[in-house]
Amino acid sequence: MKILVATEKPFAPVAVQGIREVIEGAGHELVLVEKGTRQDMLNAIGDAAGLIVRSDKVDKEVFDAAPQLKVVVRAGAGYDNIDLAEATAHGVCVMNTPGQNSNAVAELVFGMLVTLIRNRYNGTSGTELLGKTLGIHAYGAVGRCVARIAKGFGMKISALDPWVKDEVMEADGIRPVHSVEELYSENQYVSLHIPATDETRRSVGKKLIDLMPKNAVLINAARKEVIDEDSLAEAMEARADFRYVADVKPDNAAMLEDKYAERVLFTPKKMGAQTAEANINAGLAAANQVVAHLKDGFNRFQVNK
Ligand code: 3PG
Repeated sequence: MKILVATEKPFAPVAVQGIREVIEGAGHELVLVEKGTRQDMLNAIGDAAGLIVRSDKVDKEVFDAAPQLKVVVRAGAGYDNIDLAEATAHGVCVMNTPGQNSNAVAELVFGMLVTLIRNRYNGTSGTELLGKTLGIHAYGAVGRCVARIAKGFGMKISALDPWVKDEVMEADGIRPVHSVEELYSENQYVSLHIPATDETRRSVGKKLIDLMPKNAVLINAARKEVIDEDSLAEAMEARADFRYVADVKPDNAAMLEDKYAERVLFTPKKMGAQTAEANINAGLAAANQVVAHLKDGFNRFQVNK
């Protein structure tokens, strides 16, 4: 059967090689559309039984163009790019590969933080993370990696996650908090790890930023949609001590960079999961899951049940 790997952001070559080995080793044909446009994906999907994507949009148009499609695997964690209702309506199983790229995202959080608080290495004195407070907004796979690394920096860590028991956080040496108000008011640094859902879209803005202590830094390596961009701009204007760091830059990034150059830091393109290791982990997991689904209906990580 034909399995299409269609990713606008390419996997590391070593990951592609592994994906090829898994797919071809199982007797399937790999069709690779990397750095392609959406039209390239649509052109290639007609007779595909499996599809592997990253943040690439998979919607009704894609499902309509893919009558043979049985399984889509998002090589990564967030699946807000996939229309699950349409997948179900088309009889397609959608899975993700939870945890496989989390460490890469967490490492970038600290890379960006250090770059910001050392003033982009411009020769002036910066500040340190040792002893500072860090609030982790959602204690999932990425949040836990962030906590592990933050411990190494000697930060004081709390986390908010209604789905995680206090005992679990406490066993990790993390102080659980139980409201966003607590999380934002008690931490100089807050790191966002919530998914983009109907509940979380535009849920973080000036109201929460206003609660943060002096010299607050908000870092977003999750999804740009969870930020209320207009109210973020208002917060930047209202608080000269507030800084915003994002691997998922907002639509108003150019304006923010222009007005508050020193207080914002954005990657040019979402780079959190872009390491060879994360590509290998997530890419191979995705390939194995597609192959297993086509073989015997494997659906352990199905998200459209
Ligand atoms: C994820 O949800 O897995 C991360 O945000 C990484 O996304 P990417 O595969 O588009 O880099």
